[in-house]
Amino acid sequence: MASFNRFGYEWSKYSRIIPLYEEQFKAWIKPLTPADFKGLRVLDGGCGTGRNSLWPAKYGAAEVVAFDVDPRSVAVARRNLAAYANAKVCEHSLYDIPFSDEFDLAFSIGVIHHVDDPRKAVGNLVKAVKPDGRVLIWVYGREGYTFIKILVNAARKICCHVPIGLLNVLTMPFSFLWWSYIKVFPQRHPYHALLKPAPFWHIHSILFDQLLPEIANYWTKEQSVALFDGLPVEIEHVTWVNRGSWTVVARKRAQS
Ligand SMILES: C[S@@+](CC[C@H](N)C(=O)[O-])C[C@H]1O[C@@H](n2cnc3c(N)ncnc32)[C@H](O)[C@@H]1O
Repeated sequence: MASFNRFGYEWSKYSRIIPLYEEQFKAWIKPLTPADFKGLRVLDGGCGTGRNSLWPAKYGAAEVVAFDVDPRSVAVARRNLAAYANAKVCEHSLYDIPFSDEFDLAFSIGVIHHVDDPRKAVGNLVKAVKPDGRVLIWVYGREGYTFIKILVNAARKICCHVPIGLLNVLTMPFSFLWWSYIKVFPQRHPYHALLKPAPFWHIHSILFDQLLPEIANYWTKEQSVALFDGLPVEIEHVTWVNRGSWTVVARKRAQS
């Protein structure tokens, strides 16, 4: 089963969008802010449940186009975004985006580190934005590659071969331990502090999400920026997020 099918299983089980996702989204897009989306045409590549498209739609984007390669994820995202007339969801692959010079901002959050040709995917996002438009990607960081990350990544290499329904069940006791730890103890790490109010199912979906994919790359700052090498862009911002990941914002050159 390809990883996107496995993600499709995850999103069909854990499809609800909760207020905490807005805080998460704001952390992932830094230094952009909600005001930056007003009036823009926005593309969300690898949208999953649509939980990152919903906020730009609320913040007054002129149009949000969300897409995912997995049909189950597309169905969930369509349901979640149905109330927003300025949002639409399509089924496309990052390798085959049918847009050229169309969007003011294209973002892809938590996707690029899971695909087998990340440079091609980033190149296609750049192609989709207008000259002077921006591309934002959020990827797992190698820095802050703590014992827990090393352990989870080692477990993933085995877990990605376990049938997805079984993996969902097997992960639950570990999710319970993690959830209990977050709830019971004071949390100083910014990511754990963000997760403090999270319901059990959300904590479980995060751990499950870490264990299910075949591909998960952890990139240094330099490697994250290098995904844009050779593309007609200027790097505008590189932000260290929650002490564990990178957000890179690049602007497409006006003359490309
Ligand atoms: C970890 S999930 C992140 C989903 C969403 N961006 C979020 O933050 O909730 C990765 C998503 O990328 C999608 N995906 C994987 N490969 C893709 C591709 N080649 N083109 C488009 N989407 C893809 C998967 O189907 C999955 O929904």
